[in-house]
Amino acid sequence: MTTIAHSELDVFPLCLGGSVFGWTVDERTSFGVLDAYAAAGGNFIDTADSYSQWAPGNTGGESETIIGNWLAARGRRDRFVIATKVGRLNGLSGLTEKVVRQAVEDSLRRLRTDYIDLYYTHADDPGTPLEETLAALDALIAAGKVRHIGASNISGPRLAESLETAKRTGTAPYVAVQPPYNLMEREPFEGGIAPVCEREGVSCVPYFALAQGFLTGKYRAGGPAVPSVRSTAAGAYAETPRGREVLRALDTIAAEHGTAPAAVALAWLKAQPHVVAPLASSRTPEQLAELIPGASLELSPAEVRSLDVASRTTAADTRPQLG
Ligand SMILES: NC(=O)c1ccc[n+]([C@@H]2O[C@H](COP(=O)([O-])OP(=O)(O)OC[C@H]3O[C@@H](n4cnc5c(N)ncnc54)[C@H](OP(=O)(O)O)[C@@H]3O)[C@@H](O)[C@H]2O)c1
Repeated sequence: MTTIAHSELDVFPLCLGGSVFGWTVDERTSFGVLDAYAAAGGNFIDTADSYSQWAPGNTGGESETIIGNWLAARGRRDRFVIATKVGRLNGLSGLTEKVVRQAVEDSLRRLRTDYIDLYYTHADDPGTPLEETLAALDALIAAGKVRHIGASNISGPRLAESLETAKRTGTAPYVAVQPPYNLMEREPFEGGIAPVCEREGVSCVPYFALAQGFLTGKYRAGGPAVPSVRSTAAGAYAETPRGREVLRALDTIAAEHGTAPAAVALAWLKAQPHVVAPLASSRTPEQLAELIPGASLELSPAEVRSLDVASRTTAADTRPQLG
């Protein structure tokens, strides 16, 4: 277990992504994934009110509803750290006080709980004063509906401004950020947000930890088509020199440890400064079984370095492909 900075939230070092529940996974299989995660010692589950409004026939709230049904069926709500988000649901978007007040009640109802452990703003809302959003979130903490707050999809400067505003106004600060971050996409976090995390002691829970499935190794240049709704985005990485070098490094290290490339990709993230728990989703218990070892795998400094080098490959310095 690891602790989110400035909080008492002890979390398993792999956060389970809930966006697939009600999207690519029905309720029965979602329960199977959640059961397998809990059986492995997992306690940190991520969702959002807007999941999965993009799927045909959905309106949002499907993922929270499935997680809520599962929590109610299994009991022991107190064993889990439940994270959800506000701000991107169609019809309830942005971070005004009105939206925050309404959205939290809807999330609590769907999750079948009376508190949310970590409540993220899903995306920055430059149209609403930070003072208004932070005061609304602070009121939820005071009312016992939320334990801690975090920010997703926020730039470094805006995170810094939010933390300064919280200090100035005496409201609760963001304790965690949730940016996209993985071996293929490093700049948004490392270039902008990480320095603020360093200065202010904010924890990072990186999403797209598997680059939407690419880092499992199932997409290969010239390889067979992968039947997945994520194949366009994830498959595109396979055609890049960097993608090939990263897979080569993951394959080598995974073979040395007798584990899956996905576990190595998660272990690399876990080794980065400020990362408390990479955030990844699974469609089946079998997929999850490949990810769980990533929560405990410790890479040597040389292994971390070789992944660093591979992930900085550019078209100019790639080696010739030998097949
Ligand atoms: N804050 C935000 O704006 C934001 C945005 C996106 C996501 N998130 C959060 O982050 C979580 C993770 O992101 P994500 O699910 O989009 O991307 P991800 O974790 O990088 O990729 C997960 C996908 O990879 C595939 N996969 C996983 N394990 C596998 C295995 N062992 N073998 C083969 N394929 C495997 C599955 O897709 P297929 O089997 O369908 O190919 C799975 O859905 C989400 O669930 C959500 O909670 C947050």
